[in-house]
Amino acid sequence: MTGRTHDRRTVLTTCAAVAGVALGGTALTACAGGNSREASQSQPSVAKGTELAVLDDIPVGSAVSVTTPDDQEIIVSRRTEDEVVAFHAICTHQGCTVLAEESRLRCPCHNSTFDPFTGDVQGGPAYGPLPRLDVTVDGGRIVTA
Ligand code: FES
Repeated sequence: MTGRTHDRRTVLTTCAAVAGVALGGTALTACAGGNSREASQSQPSVAKGTELAVLDDIPVGSAVSVTTPDDQEIIVSRRTEDEVVAFHAICTHQGCTVLAEESRLRCPCHNSTFDPFTGDVQGGPAYGPLPRLDVTVDGGRIVTA
């Protein structure tokens, strides 16, 4: 691991959502927020080894929105006990921040929706999947790879 290490308190977990996607269960709450950005901005990067979340804090079938120490919005989804994926929460339509919500990821600006485990568009006007972020589980922590 290179770069900075962070106490889990330095990464703000802003919302837990998408409960029961894999299990067909009931949804939880939605997140607040929705800062706009230009979709044409260059791809953001997160320093390798940045802690995004603690695995046990994300129920299987759920996704959470997190903010990195340098204020990047990331979505971390846990599909199975040991399968975790992450995406930059930047809508591919016009760059608003995508939120983890119920059984999908939703952009609050124009209601594009995305699959929480693949990042693929489920409903437009967004035209492309959410940019994927490589992550790994290290000692129960989900960190960028
Ligand atoms: S910016 Fe996300 S749907 Fe328009």
